[in-house]
Amino acid sequence: NGIMVFDPAFMNTAVATSKITLVDGEKGELRYRGYKIEDLVENCSFLEVAYLLINGELPTNKQLNDWENKVMRHTYIHENLVEQMKTFRYDAHPMGMLISSVAALSTFYEEANPALKGPDLYRNQNLRNKQIFRILGKLPTIAACAYRHRIGRPYNSPVNHLNYTENFLYMMDRLSESDYRPHPRLAKALDICFILHADHEMNCSTAAMRHVGSSLVDPYTAVACAAGALYGPLHGGANEGVLHMLEEIKDVSNIPQFLKDVKAKKRKLMGFGHRIYKNYDPRATILKKVAADVFDLCGRTPLYEIAVELEAQALKDEYFVTRLLFPNVDFYSGLIYQAMGFPTDMFPVLFSIPRAAGWLAHWIEMLDDPSLKIFRPRQKYVGETDKEFVPLSERI
Ligand code: CMC
Repeated sequence: NGIMVFDPAFMNTAVATSKITLVDGEKGELRYRGYKIEDLVENCSFLEVAYLLINGELPTNKQLNDWENKVMRHTYIHENLVEQMKTFRYDAHPMGMLISSVAALSTFYEEANPALKGPDLYRNQNLRNKQIFRILGKLPTIAACAYRHRIGRPYNSPVNHLNYTENFLYMMDRLSESDYRPHPRLAKALDICFILHADHEMNCSTAAMRHVGSSLVDPYTAVACAAGALYGPLHGGANEGVLHMLEEIKDVSNIPQFLKDVKAKKRKLMGFGHRIYKNYDPRATILKKVAADVFDLCGRTPLYEIAVELEAQALKDEYFVTRLLFPNVDFYSGLIYQAMGFPTDMFPVLFSIPRAAGWLAHWIEMLDDPSLKIFRPRQKYVGETDKEFVPLSERI
C-alpha cells in the first residue's frame, strides 16, 4: 500500500502465515502441527516427526514405512561428491564442508533445477518429494564424511537397515554396542535431540530458507544458504559457548562469583534467556532428562555438576527471576553432545541435520502459498545524493 515500515532485524514483522510450529513463550510451550513436543518426544521417531512437519499430519504405519524406506534409500552420495569432499583441507571445519557439499548437490540433479527447467518446476509434487528424500537422506552422510575427514579416517558408507539416527552414529563410528550397531539408548537420545531441533518457527535460518527459496532456486542451494545462517555464533553456536563457560567456571565454588560478574553485566550466562520464551524452554526440560541418561551411559563429566548447580542458583536469583531468564535449549545440548564424543565443531552440524526437516516444511508451505512473491525488503537510503562525477585522472 506504499507505506514503508522501518523494522531493523524484523523485530516486529511477520513475513508469512504458517501452520507448522507454535511457540507460546509465556506458557513455555512448543507444538509441531498442534502436537505438544513432549508427546512427540515420548512417542515418535525423528523421521516420523519430519513427516509430520513436512506433510502436516502424523503418518499411518504404511505411510511411515514408505517414508522411512524412501529417505534411507537416498542416503548414498555420488562418488564424485565423495571425491570432492576429500579435497578439503585436512582441518576443514565440518560445517563449512556441509554447507558447500549440500550446495554442490544441486549440480548432480539437473531435473531438479528450476534455473534449467523453468520456474514452475516445483508444482510437481513427486519432484518435490524426491528432493526432500534426497536432502533428508544425504545430510547425515555428508555430515559423517565431514567428521571422518576432520579426524583423518576413511569415510563410511551408509547402512540402510539401521534407523536414521543409528545409521548416522554408525557412519560417525561413535560408541557402538557391537561393530555395527550403535548403542540403542545413545541412538534414542540423539533422536530426541533431533526432534527438539527440527523446527522453531521463523528463526534466522528458516527465514533464510524462505528468503532464498522465494527466488524459486533449487532446494539444495536454499538449504545450503539456510545452513549458512545457522553456522553463525548467534544462531547455532550458543551450546559451544555454554561448554566454554562451564570450563571456565571450573568448580561449583566459583559459581557465586561468576553470577556476580553476570549481574554486573561483565558477561552473559550462556544458555539462559530467549527472545520468545519468558518461561522455562520446554526443550531444556526434556534435554535435562536426556543428559542424565546419556551421562549414565557414557560417564558424568564434572561440567554437568557445575551446570546443574549454576541453573539452581540462577533460578533463585532476583536478577534472573525479574528478567524472566530461564535455561534455553542450548544449556544442556552441548553437554550431551560432548558426552557422546562429538567435538564442538560438529555441534552446528548436529543442529543442521534435523533443522533441514523444518526448512523443507517451510519451503513447501511457501511454495503452496498462492500469494508467494519474491522476498525483497525495502531500505532507508541514508547516503549522499547528487554528487558531481570526477574523472580518475582528476581525483586527489
Ligand atoms: N545472561 C545475563 N543477562 C541476560 C541474559 C543472559 N544470558 N539474557 C538476557 N539478559 C538480560 C539482558 O542483559 C537484559 O537486561 P537489562 O534489562 O538489565 O538490560 C534483559 O535480560 C533482557 O535481555 P535482552 O538482551 O533484551 O533479550 P533478547 O531477547 O534481546 O536476547 C538472547 C535473547 C537469547 C539473545 C539472550 O538472552 C542471550 O544472549 N542469551 C545467551 C545466549 C544464548 O543462550 N543463546 C541461545 C538462545 S536459544 C537458541 C534458539 O532458540 O535458537
